[in-house]
Amino acid sequence: MGLNIKVTDQACGAEITGVNLTKSLLEDEISAIREAWLKHHVLSFPNQPMTDDDLERFTLSFGSFGDDPFIAPIPGRNNIVAVKRTADEKVPVFADNWHTDWSFQKNPPAGTCLFGIDIPSEGGDTLFANQHLALDKMPADLRKKLEGKLAIHSAALPYSSTGGYGDKDREMGRSMDIRASDEALAKQLHPIIRKHPETDREGVFGTFGYIIGIDGMENQEAMKLLLELAAWQGQEQFQYRHKWKKNMLVMWDNRSVLHKATGGYQGHNRLLHRTTIGAYQA
Ligand code: SIN
Repeated sequence: MGLNIKVTDQACGAEITGVNLTKSLLEDEISAIREAWLKHHVLSFPNQPMTDDDLERFTLSFGSFGDDPFIAPIPGRNNIVAVKRTADEKVPVFADNWHTDWSFQKNPPAGTCLFGIDIPSEGGDTLFANQHLALDKMPADLRKKLEGKLAIHSAALPYSSTGGYGDKDREMGRSMDIRASDEALAKQLHPIIRKHPETDREGVFGTFGYIIGIDGMENQEAMKLLLELAAWQGQEQFQYRHKWKKNMLVMWDNRSVLHKATGGYQGHNRLLHRTTIGAYQA
């Protein structure tokens, strides 16, 4: 049976059926999934009772593993992290700010795979924001201010020892095994407007948070521009709201979308396993 692709009526995203992710994929299935991923940016695969081996094999069908810093992998695996929250946890929801995964790296991951294991009956949606569309619809005066600019990316705000997931957060008993360190203080430049390496389509890459400044621009002016950009990027008109089910795999393209977690499930456990797909090698 061929792949069925059901496109959402939102700004990106498609649901894929007609493929079994608990088995090795055929070459033509991998090509069809890659094509859909590049076109729709976020793919969900419902009813896939995958093991961690299946998740790793699926990930490796699309590239090498990414390098995942600051979060310890689950026991027995080098490339799977647990995104989890227990029913009684009091710390802020993990990753509930817009971001693109590990954009502070020299070669950030092309994609992320997230598999639903324990899913609350309500809440815990993941939001995505299409950054090609955000650029296509951007007012000319905002675009002009961003053209040719390099953003300064860093993990300092969340992952340094004094950052959001730093020493204080650990003391408050977060269940995720986050290992904040001052390696988070390193900086990396990336163009704010850049072409997708596989499709050549222009988009905005990253957002305020992992972006902490603009190269060569005075801090106050840069912050003003970054906040204006962030307000533009996350608008509802660019969003896809993903609703999770147990045994659902979602794969997204970090070069095309921002994403963020949401809460709304206090009193319930939530557990997903995550891998990243390393940067694209042509
Ligand atoms: C993430 O950003 O990897 C987590 C998203 C989520 O928990 O919904």
